[in-house]
Amino acid sequence: MEITLAVIKPHVLRNTYALQQIKTLIEENFRVLDHKEVHITKELSDRFYAEHRGKFFYHRLTTFMNSGPCYALILQSEASIQKWRRLMGPTKVFRAVYTEPQCIRALYGLSDTRNACHGSDSEASALREIGILFPEFDVLAVADRE
Ligand code: CMP
Repeated sequence: MEITLAVIKPHVLRNTYALQQIKTLIEENFRVLDHKEVHITKELSDRFYAEHRGKFFYHRLTTFMNSGPCYALILQSEASIQKWRRLMGPTKVFRAVYTEPQCIRALYGLSDTRNACHGSDSEASALREIGILFPEFDVLAVADRE
């Protein structure tokens, strides 16, 4: 079974109703292997979003991610990467609102930067991102249990 990393962004953590709705959706769809509230420091966001360094939205994105606690979860299911990305919906909130009005980003996203949540885009990204936010998590132990 596949694992992925989900991150709930800071403005959603301040919205108790939104956070509860998303947690319920997650529990209905995945096994949660680990979860925690995490303050994404500048050092962590620079590593986490390294592929976006130099893009016009990089400073806005990392400053926002440093602005308050996030909630990070390691999710497991069949095809968890695709499944979580489908539940999140498109990165761009205006597109999410028009094409998938019930997805998480359409319901709780405020802008392209404050788009409610993040999900890994591949198995390699999931392992890399889990290593950054959950350095103590033993990915190999999960594989061994299968
Ligand atoms: P996330 O899943 O956290 O991964 C990269 C983030 O970059 C993405 O969600 C968006 O928040 C942000 N992003 C991507 N494209 C843009 C854009 N065109 N303008 C602003 N932010 C963007």
